[in-house]
Amino acid sequence: MGKSSKDKRDAYYRLAKEQSWRARSAFKLLHLDEHFDLFGSDVTRVVDLCAAPGSWSQVLSRVLVRGECLGRRAWTARMKRERKAVYHGLEGLDDGLDPNEEVDMGDRRPRNNVKIVAVDLQPIASLEGVQTLIADITHQDTIPRILEALKSDTIKEGETETKPLVDLVISDGAPDVTGMHDLDIFIQAQLLFSALNLALRILKPGGKFISKIFRGKDVDFIYAQMRCFFEKVTCAKPRSSRASSLEAFVICEGFNMPKGFNVEELLPLGIGGQNNLPFNNLKKPQKAASSSKEEKGAVGEVDFEVSEDETEDHRWIAPFVACGDLSAWDADATYSLPKDHVSLDPVQPPINPPYKAALEERRRKGGLYGKTKQ
Ligand SMILES: C[S@@+](CC[C@H](N)C(=O)[O-])C[C@H]1O[C@@H](n2cnc3c(N)ncnc32)[C@H](O)[C@@H]1O
Repeated sequence: MGKSSKDKRDAYYRLAKEQSWRARSAFKLLHLDEHFDLFGSDVTRVVDLCAAPGSWSQVLSRVLVRGECLGRRAWTARMKRERKAVYHGLEGLDDGLDPNEEVDMGDRRPRNNVKIVAVDLQPIASLEGVQTLIADITHQDTIPRILEALKSDTIKEGETETKPLVDLVISDGAPDVTGMHDLDIFIQAQLLFSALNLALRILKPGGKFISKIFRGKDVDFIYAQMRCFFEKVTCAKPRSSRASSLEAFVICEGFNMPKGFNVEELLPLGIGGQNNLPFNNLKKPQKAASSSKEEKGAVGEVDFEVSEDETEDHRWIAPFVACGDLSAWDADATYSLPKDHVSLDPVQPPINPPYKAALEERRRKGGLYGKTKQ
């Protein structure tokens, strides 16, 4: 598909180039933020896993380091402006707005002590305020490297740094898709669990974990595993993600390590095989359970319906949310473009893509699979 044709068929591909994003994925994160308010004012330390070419890190850099008004903040400001315009002059109508409240018109509010670490197998071109690491998130040596990168001058006031904890871990990990759905889903799930393993070690209590997920057969089991560690787990589909794609995002809020659970002893999480997750030990929920703080954090608090009948299917269904403003571009639609439309080049071509050797070989042979060479 030519660049111009792709501009028509993929509005977010075109918009990414027009708005200087390195990839269309930036819109997915912004749409998720519109709904889930991922970058609340207390968020200053973030780890971005599987981050190349770096559009999610760009969002982080622009929101946290430069303090730009994007995502949720921009959406709220737009809503307020629109409501003000509609109600302007209609006396006696209560528009629900405080007339003295300033509408945020996009002023910059950079944050203090920001720390952003971005990790990928591929190199990531530099970004303001982002520390990049070339590493495999499935490899155990990556954990100490990330911890080292997080250790720094960014300790918040009143904190002593025993372990460098972060507010948010995001992961957009995806393998090079083969088209064999079962295989792609399996490999993506392994990336997701590697990201979760990392998140459990570096998130502060109450922190958030966001990850891409392919909605395959065992997806409920994955949500249930997440639910052991987070108070709220939601499956979200941003408007910028094609409806035809298996892709969605799991939004885990309120990190709460179950009492007595030792993450260092964690067997690999995942689909199939044995695991030592708390819900394996769940007893039938006690109706009159105490709500003491200690017990809240404990294993038995995870609220699955478990009966004595072992043949019964015990599924925990995560709520599903479609997010992104309805007025946003439709990722599955084809839009016509003006006659004088100029197709732009991608903002940041990959530095050292795995297909580089194949491209060079193709060029050497004189074109597509050597077909044009006489
Ligand atoms: C969809 S892209 C991420 C796009 C990115 N969020 C952005 O906004 O630019 C998926 C990334 O996952 C990375 N990836 C796949 N397996 C990985 C692994 N084992 N460790 C680290 N990164 C990995 C790939 O190199 C690729 O860059």
